[in-house]
Amino acid sequence: MNLTDRIVVVTGGAGGIGAALSRRFAAEGAAAVVIADLDGDAARAVAEGIGPVAHATALDVTDEDQVRALVDDTERRYGRIDLFCANAGVTTGGGVEVDDAGWDRAWRVNVLAHVYSARAVLPGMLARGGGHLLHTCSAAGVLTAVGDAAYTATKHASVGFAEWLAITYRDRGIRVSALCPQGVDTPMLADGIVEGHLGTRVIAASGAVLTPDQVADATIAGLAEERFLILPHPEVADYARRRAEDPDGWQAGMRKLIRRLQRS
Ligand SMILES: NC(=O)c1ccc[n+]([C@@H]2O[C@H](COP(=O)([O-])OP(=O)(O)OC[C@H]3O[C@@H](n4cnc5c(N)ncnc54)[C@H](O)[C@@H]3O)[C@@H](O)[C@H]2O)c1
Repeated sequence: MNLTDRIVVVTGGAGGIGAALSRRFAAEGAAAVVIADLDGDAARAVAEGIGPVAHATALDVTDEDQVRALVDDTERRYGRIDLFCANAGVTTGGGVEVDDAGWDRAWRVNVLAHVYSARAVLPGMLARGGGHLLHTCSAAGVLTAVGDAAYTATKHASVGFAEWLAITYRDRGIRVSALCPQGVDTPMLADGIVEGHLGTRVIAASGAVLTPDQVADATIAGLAEERFLILPHPEVADYARRRAEDPDGWQAGMRKLIRRLQRS
């Protein structure tokens, strides 16, 4: 997909990767960029920085009625949605000790919200014969987020759901992309570093931390090529291949890295 004259919605667009995507879509010539986020004030600030093509709205992606209203309002106002980016996401940190409320939040934001947006936006896209869904998943969805069990499990689920959508709808004109970055310099990563999450130390130790703008560059390239898997860190493909070919060997390597970090 090329962004010229497109109508785009970005959830979680108030900061980090979502804000960079929103700015980049506008710079590429999108006709409208609707920025939806729990933090309405921050979303408005991003929209004001972009200019008249951007429009901000406050919403909780885990509330299906609000997601449906976002889609209905956007279609009423602009006639269609060409690209819907389900980008909002959360980490919990921790493992099996994380309480059910934490697991539920991760499940609702990282997975169910993707179901809600697909359910709301697909009928219009199918009726018009095309559209693109971009789901921000994570390298954690094809590998493992050390130190964050709920993030790992829900991001794997989000990649699985995106793949299911891609296979099911591609022949009906719907393109689906799963954006799977590793470390990106956003408030999400910074919070993990402040809280001393082992996972953020693993990310720092195992590869480059990209800027949100670099993730936006990779996304524009991936959308242009209509690629399913968009990997801003290309090395993730090698890690995933190694993990698939030799799961035990890959896990041994991860355990070794963790032991090294715990000693340091
Ligand atoms: N930063 C990284 O290292 C990294 C790596 C891989 C994937 N990701 C994924 O990228 C996406 C964006 O993350 P980011 O790093 O920009 O983080 P971020 O915390 O900067 O941005 C996430 C945005 O989502 C919004 N949000 C959270 N819950 C919401 C809800 N219920 N309804 C609406 N908005 C909500 C937040 O207000 C925030 O603006 C997430 O899905 C994240 O899992 C991030």
